[in-house]
Amino acid sequence: MLRRWRCGLVGLDIGSSAVKAAELRRRGRKWSLAAFGVEQLPPGAVDAGVIADPDTVAAAVRRLLGRTAFRARSAAVALAGNTVMVRRITLPAMRPEELDGSVYWEARQHIPFPAEDVALDYQVLNTAAGEPDGATCEVLLVAARRDSVAAYVGVLEQAGVTVAVIDVGAFALRNALALNYDIDPTAVAALLDVGAAAVGLTVVAGGQPLCTRELPLGGRTYVEALGRELGLAAADARQLLLGHRAAGREPEEALPVVQSVNGSMVTEVAGALELFRAAMPPKGIGSLLLCGGASRIEGLAGALADGLGVGVTPLDPFRRLEPLAARSGRRSEADGSLAAVAVGLALRRAGDR
Ligand SMILES: Nc1ncnc2c1ncn2[C@@H]1O[C@H](COP(=O)(O)OP(=O)(O)OP(=O)(O)O)[C@@H](O)[C@H]1O
Ligand SMILES: [Mg+2]
Repeated sequence: MLRRWRCGLVGLDIGSSAVKAAELRRRGRKWSLAAFGVEQLPPGAVDAGVIADPDTVAAAVRRLLGRTAFRARSAAVALAGNTVMVRRITLPAMRPEELDGSVYWEARQHIPFPAEDVALDYQVLNTAAGEPDGATCEVLLVAARRDSVAAYVGVLEQAGVTVAVIDVGAFALRNALALNYDIDPTAVAALLDVGAAAVGLTVVAGGQPLCTRELPLGGRTYVEALGRELGLAAADARQLLLGHRAAGREPEEALPVVQSVNGSMVTEVAGALELFRAAMPPKGIGSLLLCGGASRIEGLAGALADGLGVGVTPLDPFRRLEPLAARSGRRSEADGSLAAVAVGLALRRAGDR
């Protein structure tokens, strides 16, 4: 008998500028893209992971999933910004049954919110317990604000969608990477998601997230700088940034401003990598993979490559996905840059931790 395509969850990436949705099908070990779509949000509806206008976001999700190719009505979503915190902590090696108590005690020392306001989860990265010289174990701790989780669940309920999995953007990116690339266990790579309001930086070693941090920069930083330097309204600055003529200005006129913000971007990313240094292997990162809509900004990839001295390539979340049907939507390069988090989320299964 033929194995049927399994319908999973829809991966919903609720960003500051747009909601992105991806749905995959799996047959055996092979994954296909069943649907992908983007629905723009008005400025201010979502700000770096915080849903400011639930009605507008719910309506956008409803419109997006109302497109014919989407079938799933259960979703995996990602928390972002300061609604979630991810830390890698080192604990003395211990038996799994002892770990719960220790992790929760340790978590209290690391989390900047009152314990009753957060939902905690953790994953053991390597356990040296039981090995003769294993003195420690590494744990990846995730603390999510309960009010943020409730806000996501409420908005999606309003849109007719059940939240089955709550994830973190950095983990979704890592999963999109693992699906599409062969991971060298010795390689250390940085994933950079350049969004509208935030830049997510995650260092991945041998396929495992090592450290992650969100920088308060993004497409919006360019829009603000263009507005300031060229005296443009935000809507015109946004158009110019996309390479369109706006308010009598040619896209070339934006270049000096864009290059200057590219420089700040490189400085901030280099600074964040420097903060990670203690947690990273001495040779540092070997490559940088770029995603997010604003990663396509003119000259940014080149500035990062020059400034950090590493190879920079786009992370293609569709690289190993077959289109299931012609109606699965466009698969242009632009979609690829927007789709990584949504694809990583769509890989999750209901009941996953
Ligand atoms: N072709 C392009 N060239 C330059 N910038 C682009 C392009 N396409 C999109 N952008 C910019 O990318 C940003 C949107 O990207 P993305 O959808 O990844 O952000 P987001 O997920 O909504 O935001 P965040 O993750 O920060 O909450 C906007 O700032 C937009 O101006
Ligand atoms: Mg984003």
